[in-house]
Amino acid sequence: MTRSLTYKILEKHLISGNLLPGEEISIKVDQTLTQDSTGTMVYLQLEAMNIKEIKTDLSVAYIDHNTLQTGFENADDHEFIKSVAQKYGIIYSKPGNGICHQLHLENFSKPGGTLLGSDSHTPTSGGMGMLAIGTGGLDVAVAMASGQYHLKVPKVLNVRLKGQLRPWVSAKDVILYILGKLTVKGGVGKVIEYSGEGLKSLSLTDRATITNMGAELGATTSIFPSDKITFNYLKAQGREKDWVELKGDDGADYDDILEIDLSEVVSMVAKPHSPDNVASTGSLKGLKVDQILIGSCTNSSYKDLMKVASILKDKKIHPDVSLGIAPGSSSILKMLSDNGGLSIFISAGARILECSCGPCIGMGQAPKSKGISLRTFNRNFCGRSGTKDADIYLVSPETAAISSIKGYLEDPVILGDGIRIDEPNQYDNSDAYFIYGGTGMSTISMGPNIKPFPVNNPLTDALEGRLLLKAGDNVTTDDIMPSNAKLLPYRSNIPYLSKYCFYGLDLDFHKKCLENNGGFILGGDNYGQGSSREHAALVPLYLGIKMILAKSFARIHKANLINSGILPLELLDPNDYAKLDEMDQLIINDLKIKLQNKKPIEIWNKTKNISVKAQFTGSQRDIDILLCGGYLHYTKVRLGE
Ligand code: F3S
Repeated sequence: MTRSLTYKILEKHLISGNLLPGEEISIKVDQTLTQDSTGTMVYLQLEAMNIKEIKTDLSVAYIDHNTLQTGFENADDHEFIKSVAQKYGIIYSKPGNGICHQLHLENFSKPGGTLLGSDSHTPTSGGMGMLAIGTGGLDVAVAMASGQYHLKVPKVLNVRLKGQLRPWVSAKDVILYILGKLTVKGGVGKVIEYSGEGLKSLSLTDRATITNMGAELGATTSIFPSDKITFNYLKAQGREKDWVELKGDDGADYDDILEIDLSEVVSMVAKPHSPDNVASTGSLKGLKVDQILIGSCTNSSYKDLMKVASILKDKKIHPDVSLGIAPGSSSILKMLSDNGGLSIFISAGARILECSCGPCIGMGQAPKSKGISLRTFNRNFCGRSGTKDADIYLVSPETAAISSIKGYLEDPVILGDGIRIDEPNQYDNSDAYFIYGGTGMSTISMGPNIKPFPVNNPLTDALEGRLLLKAGDNVTTDDIMPSNAKLLPYRSNIPYLSKYCFYGLDLDFHKKCLENNGGFILGGDNYGQGSSREHAALVPLYLGIKMILAKSFARIHKANLINSGILPLELLDPNDYAKLDEMDQLIINDLKIKLQNKKPIEIWNKTKNISVKAQFTGSQRDIDILLCGGYLHYTKVRLGE
């Protein structure tokens, strides 16, 4: 039987279930990664599971998001993560070492392995033939505790590459081109598997740029074969022993195929405010720019930055432009400092930023009001830069560099014949920023910003409470739990965050929860859409929300509610939404038996003396998780078996 590369890796790691699209399976997780913004919660969850040791072959805790330390909060978080890493033998990457995905590629990714990360751009390691999936923090904590991950078998979309890229057109342009074709929803429920003779012209970090932005397509992950180019990169990193040759079988069955001729791709730009809002750079040529930023987990490799250096050599940044450059890792920064690249940047007038996420997550370098910013990053959502009315354009490093000299958006094609910048034969890796844990030290550092993780109780047979909020249609996770630069340092402090829950919809929501000892929420259609933010379930859990009734739920948020032990019920008749009002007293009886038998659930409105019917839609495993009081208890019970 011929198989795709994706299925080969899934098969090798299969623990339970049938490898058929849509079926739920569990797979062995070889590696995990966390970053600090999600990591504090992951490690609080891990601690709550009370395990003796982690089951993964390798786990790494990176500090790259909140490195500004404008108060004690971030420093507390870093210290907490470091102490948990020491306890469990997790590798700790100090702030300043670089961005998690770039570092993982350099130091730990392995062809044919599985990686689960609490960051949506974890698929970057797919550039090295790894099945690398970004997921919620609790899944990562459970993967560390149990060595397993549950997922629905994805479909596989085969992208066949042929031809060769034109001079000054690069991997970023390829993925923007694909985003233009498939849109931000085009990869949902799919793994995107690359193949074809065009692979030969893409270096390993080019491939990682493409798999990185597969996250913007909504894909489960993206993956490249492991070939000679993979071998050469691993050899340059001193890790050739990690190499194996891997590819999908000739004639493998794919759910879909997309052919791309690389020679047809031109320099591309994603316009505000979505990565799939693409146009050719040539069509926007001349747009005046204020700020240009080069870096992020998408485009901060040695090769990317050396291309930038080749363009900036002996040139000056335009007086009206602020150019910031953040290398992806300390080893890249060191190599640039040794080979003169850094000196070129400084002579040109660039700002050298720390090796971290920085401006990509809105930590510094917010543009001026109504500013135009070109960025080599992967997201350009409104407000993400820290300036609500700024316009962010996503571009390649080549476009960023030439535009920084001109002062306006310029197509790098004007540079004429491209110069060839290759991956180096040898990377200069230093492990000075890594702390290898495993001392067995069990003192966990919990500064005042680290508050206990909220855990639910097993579901009771009867629920009673007030309807505290009638939220309307299309409520986003951002409406439920806002996230901005001011709240970001409190990701490990749920009690503090809870004061801002539903802040934009109801200023008194927090107060009402306290006064009524929790209660219920009523949503309209598509409740919980938007980012996968786990805090949008954890904070309501902390506030005592036991059940959310809605016309319909967004998929990931519903899963997060189940993981938190909050019951998501859908109204059988959407018109019943109008029959319920805020502060109505609701009662549900015989809940467990109805859930187990998948029967409609009657909700008695004591205030109005009427009842409405709802249903729970989900798998038996979802029901078991709810009955246990959430995924954490469910895992504890299973690990104890
Ligand atoms: Fe960091 Fe931005 Fe990537 S926040 S992990 S550089 S998407």
